[in-house]
Amino acid sequence: MTRERLWLRSFLGITLIGMVLFGFSHGSISLADESEPDNLRNLASQRGIFIGAAVMSSQLNEPLFASTLAKQFNMVVAENEMKFSYLQPRKGHFSFTAADRIVEFAMKHDMAVRGHCLLWHQQNPTWLNKKWTKAELLDVMRHHITTVVQHYRGRVKYWDVVNEGIEDNGSYRRTVWYNVIGKDYIDEAFKAAHAVDPDAELYYNDYGAEGLNDKAMAIYRLVRGMKKRGVPIHGVGLQMHIDASGYPLNSGLKRNIQRLTDLGLKVHITEMDVRLTTPASKASLERQRRIYRDIMEVCLENPNVTAVLTWGLTDRYTWIPQHAPSSWAGMGEPLLFDVNYGKKPAFYGVQEALKGL
Ligand code: G3I
Repeated sequence: MTRERLWLRSFLGITLIGMVLFGFSHGSISLADESEPDNLRNLASQRGIFIGAAVMSSQLNEPLFASTLAKQFNMVVAENEMKFSYLQPRKGHFSFTAADRIVEFAMKHDMAVRGHCLLWHQQNPTWLNKKWTKAELLDVMRHHITTVVQHYRGRVKYWDVVNEGIEDNGSYRRTVWYNVIGKDYIDEAFKAAHAVDPDAELYYNDYGAEGLNDKAMAIYRLVRGMKKRGVPIHGVGLQMHIDASGYPLNSGLKRNIQRLTDLGLKVHITEMDVRLTTPASKASLERQRRIYRDIMEVCLENPNVTAVLTWGLTDRYTWIPQHAPSSWAGMGEPLLFDVNYGKKPAFYGVQEALKGL
């Protein structure tokens, strides 16, 4: 068992004992809610893995959303509100209110937090669109990272430092960061985050790199190089936005995870959703269930996969119908809970895997 899993187990164990001793008195939905031992977070904690979901702070106003989140998940990530344009909408002016709500919810309900994301090419404020010198943009980048990581030090333990920095063909994405600073921006970003919070785990996160394709190879080379150079990188996030009709090649996923963890890195599945043609049929829901179950099983096989998160909690709020690429038109219903918070077959697929059935 890795140190991470051991740490997680003892953290969860101590929390559990605390809750039993104090009679669940702190008003949160208990991690050890024995009336519902089959809740995903209870099962996940027994297996030494985090199970998480992406949320928007406004969704926490909905009682059923909040109670389902706190009951079933022990990790949370902000779907949007920790991105650059939300946290620093004007140069030098930081706005943490929405993201703080999510973090406070997590603290109240004994959930871990993933921070998403320090640098990306989307959801940047318009003030970033100008002609920078390299020194100026390095300053902007370091100031943003330092301020944000400092604000959440001790509360956000896992950060996506760079999101989607590699193109599908394996080349560096021509982002504002890359264009002005050069490929070293990645190393510099990780160093800046580590300098502020040496206890945080720092991740490179990307999509479409779950199996053994060109992009996954480029990411492997990137993170291997970072490790060799002594850059403080601790893990890779595999997003896992997938289509239920193309059954994923688990062997590719397993081998990809293996080679990343052989470098001494952790892996998180950071944004899983399994889209269907809507409305779903019985057959497509069953396919979705199998995919969730199989992927969770692959993750559980490797002790260095320490978290699996879905990109949203309920189909009611999935990003897909409104914000996904137009080629995904007509697709949706990708999550574990339906629009009325009913447990879908996919929920039971994850549950079965966690139970080892
Ligand atoms: O804030 C406005 C709101 O005022 C307005 O009413 C609404 C109308 O649609 O738009 C709101 O902003 C939208 C925001 O989501 C919040 O709903 C943006 O237009 C929209 O572009 C944004 O989409 C997000 C997308 O990232 C941006 O590219 C999705 O919610 C979010 O799920 C998605 O998340 C990304 C991950 O960060 C990285 N990996 C891929 C994943 C899916 O694209």
